[in-house]
Amino acid sequence: MDYKNKIEALRQRINEHNYRYYVLDAPLVPDVEYDRLFRELQQLELEHPELIVADSPTQRVGAKPLAEFSQVTHSVPMLSLDNAFDEEEFAAFDKRIKDRLKQYDDIVFACEPKLDGLAVSIRYEMGDLVQAATRGDGYVGEDITHNIRTIHAVPLQLRGNDYPKVLEVRGEVFMPKMSFEALNAKAREKGEKQFANPRNAAAGSLRQLDPRVAAQRQLSFYCYGMGDCDIEIATDHVATLQQLQLWGMRVNELTEGVAGLDACQQYYQHILDVRDSLDYEIDGVVYKVNDYALQETLGFVSRAPRWAIAYKFPAQEEITELLGVDFQVGRTGALTPVARLKPVFVGGVTVSNATLHNMDEVERKDIHLGDTVIVRRAGDVIPEVLAVVKAKRPDKVQAIVMPSQCPVCGSDVEREEGEAAARCSGGLYCAAQRKEAIKHYASRKAMDIEGLGDKLVEQMVNLDMINTVADIYQLDVVKVAGMERMAMKSAQNLMDAIEDSKKTTLAKFIYALGIREVGEATAKSLARELGTLTKIKSATEESLQDISDIGPIVAAHLYRFFRQAHNLEVIDALLAAGIHWPKLKTSDADLSLKGKTYVITGTLPSMTRDEAKALLEAKGAKVAGSVSKKTSGLIAGEAAGSKLTKAQQLGVEILDEADLKALIN
Ligand code: IVH
Repeated sequence: MDYKNKIEALRQRINEHNYRYYVLDAPLVPDVEYDRLFRELQQLELEHPELIVADSPTQRVGAKPLAEFSQVTHSVPMLSLDNAFDEEEFAAFDKRIKDRLKQYDDIVFACEPKLDGLAVSIRYEMGDLVQAATRGDGYVGEDITHNIRTIHAVPLQLRGNDYPKVLEVRGEVFMPKMSFEALNAKAREKGEKQFANPRNAAAGSLRQLDPRVAAQRQLSFYCYGMGDCDIEIATDHVATLQQLQLWGMRVNELTEGVAGLDACQQYYQHILDVRDSLDYEIDGVVYKVNDYALQETLGFVSRAPRWAIAYKFPAQEEITELLGVDFQVGRTGALTPVARLKPVFVGGVTVSNATLHNMDEVERKDIHLGDTVIVRRAGDVIPEVLAVVKAKRPDKVQAIVMPSQCPVCGSDVEREEGEAAARCSGGLYCAAQRKEAIKHYASRKAMDIEGLGDKLVEQMVNLDMINTVADIYQLDVVKVAGMERMAMKSAQNLMDAIEDSKKTTLAKFIYALGIREVGEATAKSLARELGTLTKIKSATEESLQDISDIGPIVAAHLYRFFRQAHNLEVIDALLAAGIHWPKLKTSDADLSLKGKTYVITGTLPSMTRDEAKALLEAKGAKVAGSVSKKTSGLIAGEAAGSKLTKAQQLGVEILDEADLKALIN
């Protein structure tokens, strides 16, 4: 009898951990502890097979593969969505709704990312998962219960005791980007076919008769709606999702209720900004009229609701011709093959150049001059050539060859063993490397010299006005005024900006030096943990490796940089020119929030989220993207969505802007 209770208790604990991990994203125990509980349950069930039940967490993979898929008729049809492709089309949608409702106040929309996976419907009866189906043609889909059961983010049982007798949950099954990369890496190793994108991989996994395949594919799920249900859960969409979350369904945490066109447009921009940092692919934003009564009044046209729309992001991939290849010399001398393309509109801009990364990639993708290629421009990332459209290859194509001399300075091109990049050996003799070093130094995240843009730097180097970054501080205003497209006023503005930039921070200065592999984060760690330039300069390779995020390679680059006479000369000249930064106090007074983690959500009355973030970071706090048990506090502004709900559930402290100001003062 004892083991019966034990088995039941284990199942409950495992389900609880699953919920905390997948739905709340706030695990209580490390993975090893979870695994231990899981194995303990498996062992007990092995000893007492008569106690195994279908919704035990060990029973996600059913016994045997299906012979064929059976069909499922959806009790409530699974509709599709109309699309909008620009602001105008979205505004027209908003206007149509207002006209129909004869209501001209701001409409409240539930905003959600448009997940790029597959729509499924999952049916619970008396709290148990009984059936799951694909969308199919919207009326009849295929029974994929066996595969959906393998997805850990989908509960086999609803939580609590107030769930409806019948509940059909609708949402998207998708493959996280990381799982997709891992799956393809494995396929590459084995010489098997790779999937083109996470969506195809997810589709291929659901289309399996044998659930063991899906079980290995690490699919995930977000719920964004409902089908059949025997009770009324709530009177609007956001409240429904919040209730579904309490019953154990995973709801996307970027979901938010917002009022009016402008706020919707802001949401769109925000999602576009964070898109690349998400671990799943999205291809737009879905807006749904939040109020169910209004939804009902609006109704449907053919197969899509009038109350919802998918506002799609610009396409990120397009096809065009590869006209030629140039070799660009970077700050560290690396030669990058750059594709010259027939101009094409992709990712919201016209693209005529795209990176080919390096020669290994050119070879791997089998790219030749004259080929038709797929270009991708995702977010602010440099456009890249993804692949060749082999079917369009002309009879004669020409190989792409790496030059043996630097196209800029003529020095030999060298390739170190084990490195993908070939480099110009000219160092600062090479004008290209000098230009890039100066552009980097002046850039916004480095010394932030306003007005000293790429074009001006190039001109100045060509005219021999500057050779090293230290020369910036010796510029003569009259000479600058005499340059192309410059005048006395713009020259004076530049001089003022140069003067202003002398006051900086140690982290920015280190970053500005352009040491190989030393990005913003590494520079910040160096400044924070060593505190002074003298300490950074004199640190041994070994002690550098004690700093967070610094491994042997970065340590070696740093050590070598500070051992080269001309680098030290430039640094001395910069300090002599008046570059300075506030001394970092090592006392804790300034870092009163060290060790704390905050999350910011919604619109704050008088500052942007970035500004709030900077204030917190200045006091040593970390700012994270999602709420978890470890979150010290949630800074919540207007229209805070699911993050607020989650913080409340977890008992995380909620602060407003006034609290934030009090905190940092
Ligand atoms: S709601 C009646 N919400 O987009 C509304 N769909 O074009 C039905 N999709 O088949 C869908 N993210 O596969 C909805 N947050 C979201 C979505 C979403 C992705 C997909 C879904 C659907 C298709 C419709």
